[in-house]
Amino acid sequence: MHTSTSLRLRHAALAAILSTALVGPAGAQFGPPRPKPTGPWMNKSLPADQRADLIVAQMTLDEKISLLHGGGWGLIFAGPEAPPSKSVGGAGFIPGIPRLGIPDLQMADAAVGVTRSALFGRYSTALPSCVAEAASWNLDLAREYGALIGRELRDQGYNMTLGGGVNLAREPRNGRIFEYKGEDPVLAGRLVGAEMKALQEQGIVGDIKHYALNDQESGRSYVNVKVDKRAIRESDLLAFEIGVKESGAGAVMCSYNLLNGDYACENSYLLTDVLKKDFGFQGFVLSDWGGTHSTVKAALAGLDMEMPGNTYLADAFKKAVEGGQVPMARLDNMVHRILRSEFAVGLFDNSPERQVPDVFHGLEVAERVAEQSIVLLKNANAQLPLAVARVKTIAVIGSHADVGVLSGGGSAQVDPMGGNPVLQPADTPFFDRVIWHRSSPLKAIRAKAPHADVQYDGGTDPAAAARLAKASDVAIVFVSQHSSEGGDHPNLSLPHNQDALVSAVAAANPHTIVVLETGGAVTMPWIGQVSAAMEAWYPGIRGGEAIANILFGDVNPSAKLPLTFAKSEADLPHPKLTEQPPPASDKDMVEMFPGFKDNTRKFDVAYDEGLLVGYKWYDAKSKTPLFPFGFGLSYTTYEYSNLKASKDSVTFQVKNTGARAGAEIAEVYATLPAASGEQFNRLVAWEKVRLAPGESKSVTLRLDPFYLSIFNAEKDAWELVPGEYIIQAGASSRDLSLRGSVHMN
Ligand code: GLC
Repeated sequence: MHTSTSLRLRHAALAAILSTALVGPAGAQFGPPRPKPTGPWMNKSLPADQRADLIVAQMTLDEKISLLHGGGWGLIFAGPEAPPSKSVGGAGFIPGIPRLGIPDLQMADAAVGVTRSALFGRYSTALPSCVAEAASWNLDLAREYGALIGRELRDQGYNMTLGGGVNLAREPRNGRIFEYKGEDPVLAGRLVGAEMKALQEQGIVGDIKHYALNDQESGRSYVNVKVDKRAIRESDLLAFEIGVKESGAGAVMCSYNLLNGDYACENSYLLTDVLKKDFGFQGFVLSDWGGTHSTVKAALAGLDMEMPGNTYLADAFKKAVEGGQVPMARLDNMVHRILRSEFAVGLFDNSPERQVPDVFHGLEVAERVAEQSIVLLKNANAQLPLAVARVKTIAVIGSHADVGVLSGGGSAQVDPMGGNPVLQPADTPFFDRVIWHRSSPLKAIRAKAPHADVQYDGGTDPAAAARLAKASDVAIVFVSQHSSEGGDHPNLSLPHNQDALVSAVAAANPHTIVVLETGGAVTMPWIGQVSAAMEAWYPGIRGGEAIANILFGDVNPSAKLPLTFAKSEADLPHPKLTEQPPPASDKDMVEMFPGFKDNTRKFDVAYDEGLLVGYKWYDAKSKTPLFPFGFGLSYTTYEYSNLKASKDSVTFQVKNTGARAGAEIAEVYATLPAASGEQFNRLVAWEKVRLAPGESKSVTLRLDPFYLSIFNAEKDAWELVPGEYIIQAGASSRDLSLRGSVHMN
């Protein structure tokens, strides 16, 4: 993980704050339940907006303002009115108003599971990473993912998530790719929408973040992203538009960065013109932690909540309202949005039922997600699945595969059950901690092949690893790349000399299989030397078992890449990552810290590729990726035939032409008429089709005109360009065997 010295110092600052002011997990409401207040707003049969209007009418000025800011991690950021004793210990906490029955708002980060809970020793299911879930292309699984996280938030006394990351993988070196859903706005938007809708059905306020264009971590709190309107409406903002509309999420978290000169959390184009007016977003906008930079400008631009702390939307805000700079109507709307989102998911109606999480259910879901997320990238001469009867000696090499699988860090870090099996120095900065989950691939492989001799080598010495490989029938090399918010990868190469390790092992044994545990795409200079490779991402608490199930064929891989793997950084829109400028002084260094009040530092990143994110860039520039968007192999084969396209839908056949059952993600892409100015494909529909050997199914998918439209920046509106649309279907963005066309008026 690339962290410059300034970043390390900042991490140390954050770690120091965290460790000094944390308090115990009190806050459990023991004793007799509080009498429920009466009041017309408690009538469940009324619509959420009406209930919110009724209660706002009863609130004093101070009560209204008390809901616009809060504390975090049990810290007293919000002053005496948010005593840490009432926080359940999550990243955010806003005390309710008992006389009106307004509940405490207990927020926790929960990208891949409830995090920071284990600071007080509570168990959470560590699901596979978000980008892993995206590789399943499975909306039903996304719903299970969201429902599980929602249930476990309730179990631990939380009633709002801070998950729901959906920034596009525009910058493949971004340290938070693992928290997001890949590079395509339709795939990402639909997945996060399904996840957040299911989470809210558990009675939890949903969230979608980081709005918007927070597509790199370098200098995240003061990078000024420059990109044109049409480009972002058809890329990053389209993912948010679909996610917000399909989930009805109660909250959107605005991001640290600036967009075209204004901080996202005080950017009226983003927050009001697009999110609240165009998307029709009914919920509230909360800042990323420390992402608020003003009182009047932010409130008038559309920010509804400052987290954490009381610098801008507490006393200063009261003065602005009393002084007339902020109309009372805006304050009432801020409070309305927060409370209507709480009413909408039942926060006033269901008291928290704290309970031990359903651990077994969590393990079962985690394993299924991992099995549907592992992408088989190469399988020369059917190297896989391994035949237990034939393989007598197996070398397992690298990435602590003897004790666990890698986890992503930062606010998405679910604490490891039983502690981190790979010890690190106690003073390791917060964002530099590398945590592993105790799901051992070595143990799982030994369980699959009890009669084989399975030996482990740590991989730190390529020569030693090569010797073990040479003496084995097959060699399985685990390579890994840690990611965390707060930093980006300096390049797309595997760190710690792992490319040399793979090459040494492959030179010693032609039956070398590589398992990658990475945050996102990496380059693979050794891909031609190995016989098989699979991307397992950060596979979660049952990752070892899932990997073994795929290696030995108990599960037939079905996942496909939700983002492009480049051959080299030279092929990227930005061959070099735009790093933050080094600090000129200590003051500069502190200013880099998110939320620094008077952050005067800025540096520009121009996304000149515009809407050409991911595969669209490779298509438009005729570049060949290492592995294309939508690519993934199976242990069986499929055949596509008979495409028929109409204005509303496309129908085609998929047949399993192999000898074992499988599930094929059938993908549909459209090429717009030349008048659109977009001569490259875009994903418009897909379906995961389960097929027995020899079985054929007819697939009919709707062509949503919204996904076929372009954004007309002059008219500020979506429009369907009249003309000929090429509709193609196939196994990946670069393997479209069927083609048809339709004329749209
Ligand atoms: C962090 C992250 C955000 C998280 C928040 C609370 O800095 O950017 O994703 O939800 O702060 O932990």
